[in-house]
Amino acid sequence: MARETWKSMVGFTFAALGSAVGLANICIFPFLVGMNGGAAFVFVYLICLVIVGFPVFISEILLGRTTRSSPAGAFRKVGGKRFWPFAGKMTVLTGFIVTSFYSVLAGWVLGYFVEALKGTVTSFGSIEEASQVFDSLVGTASWGLMFHGMFMLICLVIVFGGVRRGIERCSKIMMPVLIFLLLSMVVRGITLPNAWKGISYLFYPDLSEITGTMVLLALGQAFFTLSLGQGTMITYGSYLTEEDNIPKACIQIAIGDTLISLCAAIAVFTTLFSAGLEPAQGVGLIFKTLPIVFTKLPFSWALVTLFFLFVTLAAVTSEISAMEPVIAYLVDEKKWKRHSAVLACGIGGFALGIPCALSFSILKDWYLFGYGFMDFVQVLVQAILLPFGAFCAVFVVGWVWKWRNAERSLTVGSEFFFRSYPWFSLYLRWCIKYSAPILIILVFINKLFRA
Ligand code: TRP
Repeated sequence: MARETWKSMVGFTFAALGSAVGLANICIFPFLVGMNGGAAFVFVYLICLVIVGFPVFISEILLGRTTRSSPAGAFRKVGGKRFWPFAGKMTVLTGFIVTSFYSVLAGWVLGYFVEALKGTVTSFGSIEEASQVFDSLVGTASWGLMFHGMFMLICLVIVFGGVRRGIERCSKIMMPVLIFLLLSMVVRGITLPNAWKGISYLFYPDLSEITGTMVLLALGQAFFTLSLGQGTMITYGSYLTEEDNIPKACIQIAIGDTLISLCAAIAVFTTLFSAGLEPAQGVGLIFKTLPIVFTKLPFSWALVTLFFLFVTLAAVTSEISAMEPVIAYLVDEKKWKRHSAVLACGIGGFALGIPCALSFSILKDWYLFGYGFMDFVQVLVQAILLPFGAFCAVFVVGWVWKWRNAERSLTVGSEFFFRSYPWFSLYLRWCIKYSAPILIILVFINKLFRA
């Protein structure tokens, strides 16, 4: 059977955008901005995106399209049989781990959506009350497990439909809905009294505030938000054809993803400042503060419900993209039937997620290297596995395959683009060969010592 391809370039763009936009944009980006002093972090993040995130992104898509294989096959075909098959398999393993803990996190969001429908999270008087409700919900084993399972089930049903019918169609409907909802939140935010305080907090950087830790956090965020380092984009790229213009699609996707992060931050901080709350609220920012902020507004019930629905949808399109490399690996390399691969990935991901989900209740006192289980898995992924995968992608493209050959393959389908923007090729060459691998190693070493 011929390999499935995307029906259209728009379908691919939406699917990749759906993968990129998720909890990292909506929950984690505002949280990081709030914890790191606002505009300075935004500034550093944008630079990291340009000199590291984007080059890794192009490398992964290119690896996928050129080899038409799952990540394991892609690394083997380009890098040879020595070390690279191991690297490819590691990325598949990373995908499997991301699948499990992401589903637990997203399960909370889904759970909050259901609570919001019931009206439980729309009537808080204070942050303390909201925090208590959050802690008690997350601390209830059955609540966490149930929504983790439900979320996984929703994703399984969608992935069962296959590349075109499932992922592409679903993303094409979801993304515009998400964008519409987000824009309404932004408009809502900037028309509040004192909204300008939020805007200036986000966009007037004081460059003297930049610290080393900030740079490292920003870099980690650039990988996580673009779904890099884990074979997702290699797999999505493998369903592209020779006619597709990779640079153009990648630029659109990276800009779209960034705008969505910025919109989420604008919505969060204008609302936060207008309610007179502090920006540094910790990871619970979304769960603990937004419902409160909303209760002070008209139609709070509808706003809170829509908001959590919106975040759940964004998480669905990201989760299915984290599953795809694992499935593609089982189908391409192990010759499994697609349906069996989907089931194995879903059930396995659910099982591995169980200790994560329970690490706030029954397994609360279980520590691995000083971390609770969920935190441990998250640190393992963000600090070690994703940088490793991202590094392998740029290194194999820039040095093993050789940039000259990679560039030739990249130009297929985008000859006109390269002719119109000759500097683009210089920029990519410099970043893929030097700035990206070097900076990733720095993050890696730093996290290793801090972990
Ligand atoms: N990018 C997604 C987000 O922003 C998360 C995600 C999906 C991901 N697939 C991934 C992260 C693969 C790393 C690797 O929420």
